[in-house]
Amino acid sequence: MSFKAVILAAGKGTRFKSDLPKVLHKILGKPMLWYVVKAAKKAGAEEIIVVVGHKKEQVEEFLKLEFPEVKTVYQEQQLGTGHAVMCAEELLKDYNKKIVVLNGDTPLVEPEEIKRLAEVDGDMVVLTGEINDPTGYGRVIRDGREILKIVEEKDATEEEKKIKEVNTGIYSFDPKKLFEALKEIDNNNAQGEYYLPDVLKVFKCKGWKVVPVVVKNFSTVMGVNNRYELSKAEKVLQERIVKALQLSGVTIHNPKSAYIEPEVEIGTDTEIFAPIYIKGKTKIGKGCYLGAFSEIVDSTIGDKTKVESHSWIKGTVLEPETSVGPFAKLRPGTYLESSAKLGTFVETKNAYLERGAKANHLTYLGDCRIGENTNIGAGTITCNYDGFNKWKTEIGKNVFVGSNTLFIAPVKVGNNSITAAGSVITSDVPENTLAVGRAKQLNYEGKAERIREKARRKKK
Ligand code: UD1
Ligand code: CA
Repeated sequence: MSFKAVILAAGKGTRFKSDLPKVLHKILGKPMLWYVVKAAKKAGAEEIIVVVGHKKEQVEEFLKLEFPEVKTVYQEQQLGTGHAVMCAEELLKDYNKKIVVLNGDTPLVEPEEIKRLAEVDGDMVVLTGEINDPTGYGRVIRDGREILKIVEEKDATEEEKKIKEVNTGIYSFDPKKLFEALKEIDNNNAQGEYYLPDVLKVFKCKGWKVVPVVVKNFSTVMGVNNRYELSKAEKVLQERIVKALQLSGVTIHNPKSAYIEPEVEIGTDTEIFAPIYIKGKTKIGKGCYLGAFSEIVDSTIGDKTKVESHSWIKGTVLEPETSVGPFAKLRPGTYLESSAKLGTFVETKNAYLERGAKANHLTYLGDCRIGENTNIGAGTITCNYDGFNKWKTEIGKNVFVGSNTLFIAPVKVGNNSITAAGSVITSDVPENTLAVGRAKQLNYEGKAERIREKARRKKK
């Protein structure tokens, strides 16, 4: 059944106590609204209309960036969910299939449920659910299989509050009947708002067909009205993502502490040790090892790569069979060709390491290119910043960089050269050259004893 979706996202979200509109609060790195739009798209909505209001510029900016095809309508004053839907009338009044209405703060909704609602035959189909603690939800008052009405928490009697079947805020409607019914609801209630669920009474009065559908799994329709519920929803989603990865062939140890965002891709036989954070558009290959306490953001990691524990990796590409960490910090623009290696306490930024290049310990590599099989000794620093500008260091193939070398960029080192440990390299080094850039050592034989003697005399 074809349908269009209307997503209500104009509310302020008072209970969040935030400057950010409620639907932009994030779960696993994505705004709640992102999940609702995604689900509507996956369910096959012909068109998606989002009702915006409070701080609409921010919500529209997000939509334009992530879902340019989505339309928005403006609800200037937030007079209630019924009023919000009315704002979409212009766009929908000539549509003759179905409208599915979704709340922007129900981020875990599954595409299958949306599809099911669109397919059920009825003029108004209400998705309901049973929950142990129904506080905050509208209660569903039934007479057997029929719904009589939906009562908001604030309007409910003590008896009604005990009812555990609630309105999920997700419905499908016949468009003509919906807009006709909306004209008949009022705001004579505890909140002085035009409630969308109140159209139910109108539908019943007119003898139009109202059908309740009970959701299969309540956690998929939980409303998120404050930051406590936000964390609960995040937990549910986290479990969903981790489980899907496990079933697709990824081993995850200590899975409760694995934070993996929804756009992350991970190949089979990769083994992950949580706690770990994998974020953004990260893509991880097959047979990798990811050590605990690492954070990987917007990076591509090739097959059979090893990321040892406590590594921080962002905007980086690691080709297959590379190795990083423990305790490595890879900043944006880092690129490792296959079999390159960055070890303990190494920081990189805009650093390109060719095949087999290595920096095993205690090194800063910024704005540089390191040639094939070059070995960077411990304590090496590319001094890329002179306080005003950033400069590049280019080191050729098969170079041996002695420990504690400083490269004062811009500087180049030719293939097969060697820098002596402790050198400060200020000018280019040709190929096949030994560069020694340190003070010459002087040995004064016997002087150590004379110094001690002098010190002893002074003490007396
Ligand atoms: C709503 C339902 C309630 C249901 C619950 C499910 C109503 C009156 N109540 O309650 O029966 O159990 O959802 O989660 O519909 N919004 C607007 N414009 C407005 C008001 C709200 O766009 O004028 C948007 C909000 O941004 C939000 C959604 O509509 O995304 C729901 O509003 P909210 O205030 O959270 O309703 P609930 O009290 O949760
Ligand atoms: Ca809500």
